[in-house]
Amino acid sequence: MPAQIIDGKAIAESVRNQVAAETQQLISDTGVLPHLAAVLVGNDPASEVYVRNKERACQKAGLKSTLHRLDAATTQADLLVLIDTLNLDAGVHGILVQLPLPKHLDSTQILDAILPTKDVDAFHPENTGLMLQGRPRFLPCTPAGVMKMLQVSKIQTAGRHAVVIGRSDIVGKPMAALLVQKGVDATVTICHSRTTDIGAVCRTADILIAAVGIPEFVTGDMIKPGAVVIDVGINRVNERLVGDVDFTAAMTVASSITPVPGGVGPMTIAMLLQNTLTAARIVAGVS
Ligand code: GUN
Repeated sequence: MPAQIIDGKAIAESVRNQVAAETQQLISDTGVLPHLAAVLVGNDPASEVYVRNKERACQKAGLKSTLHRLDAATTQADLLVLIDTLNLDAGVHGILVQLPLPKHLDSTQILDAILPTKDVDAFHPENTGLMLQGRPRFLPCTPAGVMKMLQVSKIQTAGRHAVVIGRSDIVGKPMAALLVQKGVDATVTICHSRTTDIGAVCRTADILIAAVGIPEFVTGDMIKPGAVVIDVGINRVNERLVGDVDFTAAMTVASSITPVPGGVGPMTIAMLLQNTLTAARIVAGVS
């Protein structure tokens, strides 16, 4: 039997609808209109698409969104001034600096400058620490989106072996941290470029999460029959979007799988809206 498709597009839509309803409620209760400020430096084509999608999603859900476009040659000092202005603006609840930044800029210093209570990407070390301790303010959007998909799809996590491929600060590490939390209770392994016999490790996974950024890295023989496969990859190959998993092969081995596009991608934006609403609630004192 072919694997069941986990429909990220549909799950994301239901999250966005929920955020839209709760946003209206917040506005009518408190007059606070959630506002996301996005910062785009330069004109990387993929980043342009992501930022446009985020703006559109905000508008559709009734949140305010503003885009601050800066020249590719913007200096570190100028970008820090903008972050400071947004930090001090009481009408801005969430700040998102689109990554990657041009190479001459120090991303870590920029992201650390965002006020933790406005850090809707949840990249600030304060938010990472809160998440690790199981008392999150915001959850990082992509891992939170994956958790939501597992939950809505009623996939059992307790006592199962989850293998995460990739150790990035944005996806791999926080993904593993969420899977191991009390209440989720998976046993977690993180694989990376120095892992010995990565195929053998992946084959022990009941839940396999690919976040490695290499097109079709996960081949059919790396998947345990009946495993749940979550593909976080979005790779452009000859104008086509492909994931980190060989989808056709995985369909014949896995029990359920997320497609690319239409899987994890839409969830990331939905969780960003959720975080922006949370940030506005903090300001409104109704969190
Ligand atoms: N670039 C790729 N993914 C992301 C993300 O989740 N947040 C930001 N700010 N930039 C990104």
